[in-house]
Amino acid sequence: MKAFVDKDVCIGCGACVGICPEVFDMDNDGLAVAIEGEISEDLQESAQEACEGCPVSAITIE
Ligand code: F3S
Repeated sequence: MKAFVDKDVCIGCGACVGICPEVFDMDNDGLAVAIEGEISEDLQESAQEACEGCPVSAITIE
């Protein structure tokens, strides 16, 4: 599983970082960024929650 943040869509609300700080972080531009590479199994559930919790659906998980 991998996560991506579409910076053209993200409004920098920070919810994803609040829900899953292990996977999401705020970048210098005030928008979220996801860790690169595979999300470890123990973090997949909270990463999914963060994805669903984003108010503008900027997060893609595949
Ligand atoms: Fe951006 Fe959505 Fe996270 S708006 S900061 S990707 S919860």
